[in-house]
Amino acid sequence: EKVVLAYSGGLDTSIIIPWLKENYGYEVIAMAADLGQGEELEPLREKAMKTGASKIYIEDLREEFLTEFIYPTIKAGAKYEGKYLLGTSFARPLIAKRLVEIAAQEGAVAIAHGATGKGNDQVRFELAVKALNPDLKIIAPWREWKIRSREEAIEYATERNIPVPVTKAKPYSMDRNLWHLSHEGADLEDPWNEAQDDLYMLGVSPEQAPDKPAYLELDFEQGIPVALDGKKMKPIELLTKLNELGGANGIGIISMVENRLVGMKSRGVYETPGGTILYTAHQALEELTLDRMTLHYKEQVALKYAEMVYDGVWYSPLREALDAFVQVTQRNVTGTVRIKLYKGNCTAAGAKAPYSLYNLEFVTFGEDAVYNQKDAEGFINLFGLPLKVRALMEKSSGLK
Ligand code: ARG
Ligand code: SIN
Repeated sequence: EKVVLAYSGGLDTSIIIPWLKENYGYEVIAMAADLGQGEELEPLREKAMKTGASKIYIEDLREEFLTEFIYPTIKAGAKYEGKYLLGTSFARPLIAKRLVEIAAQEGAVAIAHGATGKGNDQVRFELAVKALNPDLKIIAPWREWKIRSREEAIEYATERNIPVPVTKAKPYSMDRNLWHLSHEGADLEDPWNEAQDDLYMLGVSPEQAPDKPAYLELDFEQGIPVALDGKKMKPIELLTKLNELGGANGIGIISMVENRLVGMKSRGVYETPGGTILYTAHQALEELTLDRMTLHYKEQVALKYAEMVYDGVWYSPLREALDAFVQVTQRNVTGTVRIKLYKGNCTAAGAKAPYSLYNLEFVTFGEDAVYNQKDAEGFINLFGLPLKVRALMEKSSGLK
């Protein structure tokens, strides 16, 4: 029988290969996904086989990740707990989807992953697998084996002649892809500790950024970014460029204590340079193009959407339904935003849109046909009626 393993080539997922063979007697098919983590994956082919896998799939999922997972989340305006741009969260269902597809192709009976029993990632992988193929068995070695530390993992590997990465172990638990880089653990576990400047990998700290602002222009069509400084770009190219520009200006660094789905709070430091630019620009365009009712309702949807992405409930009827709502709101979210980057700050310096609802003639204080100032009086009388009725009651009953 076969199992398909989400494989990164790191120490943890490497020892999972022999562990699955020894403890389940499975033939192990490895799957390494390129989500833009900036690592060469081809060397993993030989590495996985040497470690005991019978086959490896190396999958470039970057484009799908960006257009099918990241774009819908930008359009929704979803941020978890007001800050986190969900970089790790929405990568998991995509990886899980590929695991399930490969399992079908290979006739595998199970999938396995290297997420620990204390985190969100296990939930995200497994909810997606359950939703996509309820018959697959799911194996999470970290919840089963006795290995508790990096030292024990190294010992396990050495005993089985599995090469241990020579690089000094990074102190942080990190997850990197096209969209972001997360840091957790080590000194960051104390929320009193500030992240050290040398921690950042996608850019510089605001202090180290240039003392002069940088400007750029982003074009959107129906909520999707399509061009940078007037130049049409493919999705990956565009985000890569924004990551460079944002990173160089110290954009998109956040530190937060977040509530994990599994109950505990955890401290994380995130780098999302390009993503922060896209969220800022998209929001500026919605300010021009969405009517008040839609904008306000969409804020509620964004909260729920963020929670669902964070919780790993991607493949679900509610998320699809919220997506349909968001999609309709984006019909006129087309236009250009001028973004200013300056020492960690990302602001919309200007915006214009062909379907803008902003109308200078209505705003200015002149006479016009649409807005009659006299109408405001009746509006305020009725809108304020409940307040007035209550005040009258309080007065006549002696409460006040
Ligand atoms: N706390 C973030 C989240 O839950 C980041 C998780 C990072 N995962 C990792 N395996 N290092 O989305
Ligand atoms: C893990 O525990 O595997 C990473 C952190 C998380 O999933 O929240």
